[in-house]
Amino acid sequence: MRLNTRLTTLGALLLPIASAQDSTLGPDKDGLYWIKSEGLQAAFIPYGASITHLLINDQYGVQRDIVAGFDNASYYEIDKQHPHFGGVPGRYANRIKNSTFEIDGETYKVDANENGGLDTLHGGSDGWDYRNFTVVSYTEDSITFSIVDPDGKEGFPGEVVSYVTYTVHDSTWDFKMIALATTKKTPIMLSSHTYWNLDGFANNETSTALNHTFYLPYSGQRVGVDNILIPTGDILANQPGSVNDFWTAPKQIGKSFGEPELEGNCGFNCTGYDNCWLVNRAQNGPYDWRADGFVARLASAWSGIQVDVYSDQEAFQMYSCNGQNGSMALKTTQGLKDNADFPRVIPQYGCVVMEVEDWIDAINQPSWQRQSKQIFEPSGDPYVLQASYRFSINSTIA
Ligand SMILES: *[C@@H]1O[C@H](CO)[C@@H](O)[C@H](O)[C@H]1NC(C)=O
Ligand SMILES: *[C@@H]1O[C@H](CO)[C@@H](O)[C@H](O)[C@H]1NC(C)=O
Ligand SMILES: *[C@@H]1O[C@H](CO)[C@@H](O)[C@H](O)[C@H]1NC(C)=O
Ligand SMILES: *[C@@H]1O[C@H](CO)[C@@H](O)[C@H](O)[C@H]1NC(C)=O
Ligand SMILES: *[C@@H]1O[C@H](CO)[C@@H](O)[C@H](O)[C@H]1NC(C)=O
Ligand SMILES: *[C@@H]1O[C@H](CO)[C@@H](O)[C@H](O)[C@H]1NC(C)=O
Ligand SMILES: *[C@@H]1O[C@H](CO)[C@@H](O)[C@H](O)[C@H]1NC(C)=O
Ligand SMILES: *[C@@H]1O[C@H](CO)[C@@H](O)[C@H](O)[C@H]1NC(C)=O
Repeated sequence: MRLNTRLTTLGALLLPIASAQDSTLGPDKDGLYWIKSEGLQAAFIPYGASITHLLINDQYGVQRDIVAGFDNASYYEIDKQHPHFGGVPGRYANRIKNSTFEIDGETYKVDANENGGLDTLHGGSDGWDYRNFTVVSYTEDSITFSIVDPDGKEGFPGEVVSYVTYTVHDSTWDFKMIALATTKKTPIMLSSHTYWNLDGFANNETSTALNHTFYLPYSGQRVGVDNILIPTGDILANQPGSVNDFWTAPKQIGKSFGEPELEGNCGFNCTGYDNCWLVNRAQNGPYDWRADGFVARLASAWSGIQVDVYSDQEAFQMYSCNGQNGSMALKTTQGLKDNADFPRVIPQYGCVVMEVEDWIDAINQPSWQRQSKQIFEPSGDPYVLQASYRFSINSTIA
């Protein structure tokens, strides 16, 4: 009975993909699974259930590919930098302090793949976005991937089964992620780790995304972190006018560059952003995440492309590509041709990663009281993440 109830829940969440499956559909010669709607086209691959391309017209009607990635599916495994281009980090996104956590008095040690073994990033060195998911459903406008993450993999307790569905309609990209702890209690936190450049890296005045305008209307607070970006437990105020204030008004990402407070803001010797802002809106009463306002907006005056991110998640990570250094080539669908001023690579600050997620490393911060949002068990509710990225042209971007 219990199982039936849970499968019904899963079925309801996956419903949009249940119709009109076309058995003649398959990946293109580059291994890309395209889905299309009136306003946009996007491509996905089994590796990390990653988005590889998102094509949309700019304010002049010129098509732009506004996400970073590689040209073909096979290259994702070959590339050794692994910047987590467009994938689903799992089973636990972001960092885990000391690569340990405790559940019911038992301490678990997981793969310590960052900072010389001081912590775990994105689920370990063979986390979900290093593995090929299975395509379980594919239609003209939707694709669903699944993964079975075995008990003990990367040190995590119990098996987790997950489904990730991407759908496009009009000028919107929707996604739903569901994960079930099938055998033991385990932490689960997923996200979409997509790198954006709303100019398709074709801006002929600047190669960075520092002129993109960013807005987090519900994010007056952020998670305090140490110099390797591990939460300290402190929740900090983003005072109006301070470098991390993106809530009082939209602001260009580069606006605060040059201010001393931005130095070290993204870790030791790092200038820029790699921070987790809280999304606080329950105090305004019950809300419908699909209708009651976006949690984040990113926009570029050059292309006129604006994306409004709607989500049911209560935190939001933004990374300003501080770690890029020109060593990643652009895709053939991006950039300028034969322009010596703008080589066909991603420069430092050339992109913006936006991650809908829960409060990072809450499994190691009991005082936040978020265990029910992050620890899942076979007899409990599934993990669910939903988001809707709505694109438009805005010709008055500040
Ligand atoms: C696959 O993509 C990579 C990176 O985008 C590129 O260097 C390589 O030439 C591509 N290979 C093929 C066969 O197209
Ligand atoms: C993952 O998929 C890619 C692209 O289809 C393929 O080249 C690669 O061999 C696959 N890797 C594994 C481990 O199956
Ligand atoms: C880090 O984890 C190890 C277990 O792997 C434990 O022995 C040690 O006490 C932990 N350190 C801190 C500072 O929590
Ligand atoms: C730069 O791009 C804009 C928008 O596509 C275009 O109108 C303009 O002519 C370009 N300028 C140069 C110098 O190429
Ligand atoms: C970037 O934005 C600033 C205003 O903050 C403006 O002065 C500058 O011209 C813009 N640069 C480009 C290349 O769009
Ligand atoms: C700090 O960063 C700068 C620029 O990225 C680099 O040249 C310098 O070596 C770094 N300093 C330390 C102590 O890592
Ligand atoms: C650029 O960054 C990558 C990844 O961190 C690193 O492997 C590479 O050595 C860096 N290249 C330069 C020129 O600094
Ligand atoms: C366009 O951007 C401006 C400036 O950021 C903003 O005030 C306005 O609400 C946006 N328009 C729409 C229709 O989203």
